[in-house]
Amino acid sequence: MSRGSIQIYTNIAHDYLVKLKVLVMETLEAIKTRRSIRKFKKEPISRDMVKELLEAAMFAPSAGNEQPWQFIVLDDRKILDIVPNICSTAAMCRQATTAVLVCGDAGLEKYPEFWVQDCSAAVENLLLAAHAMGLGAVWAGIYPLKDRVEGFRKLFSLSDDITPFALVPLGYSDQETNPQKRYKEERVHYNGW
Ligand SMILES: Cc1cc2nc3c(=O)[nH]c(=O)nc-3n(C[C@H](O)[C@H](O)[C@H](O)COP(=O)(O)O)c2cc1C
Repeated sequence: MSRGSIQIYTNIAHDYLVKLKVLVMETLEAIKTRRSIRKFKKEPISRDMVKELLEAAMFAPSAGNEQPWQFIVLDDRKILDIVPNICSTAAMCRQATTAVLVCGDAGLEKYPEFWVQDCSAAVENLLLAAHAMGLGAVWAGIYPLKDRVEGFRKLFSLSDDITPFALVPLGYSDQETNPQKRYKEERVHYNGW
């Protein structure tokens, strides 16, 4: 069989599996059912789970594959309890057993200013991976709020190259969530506005 016909059969099989909701449903299901989780159970998550989550984060796309990120994992109660003093909207850290501080590293950048988009993709991967693994997580915004950025810089004695970008408190969820409908036809524009 030629390479072309193999590709055609592969595409047909792919589309069939999509229709049967076997192939992509898990991913789409995760995307559509993910919600911010702000209440966590007391049980800590293992560092193996954290590694899995960080691996997912590091699979995010980035400009020219620059991967300009660093991750500070917080699983020390004393540090987690300090976080709300720096970022009041991350008060859930008092309950969470783990949080990941996603940072941009200017020293790793190839394309200036793209690090924000790169790190955003990493955060979203982290959130989706947590959800897919049966965990809950929330994105707490740090950058571009100067007081939050400087607060974390000071707490962890970070160099100027490192910019704290977002904090992701996570753990076993202790919260119910509702499915939502968010598709808005009026936001979609084909071939023009
Ligand atoms: C850039 C950004 C910053 C956010 N900052 C916070 C935050 O500081 N604290 C918080 O509880 N949620 C924060 N969120 C979560 C949003 O409130 C949440 O994603 C939004 O309300 C939609 O809800 P959902 O995540 O359940 O779909 C942030 C989300 C984004 C993308």
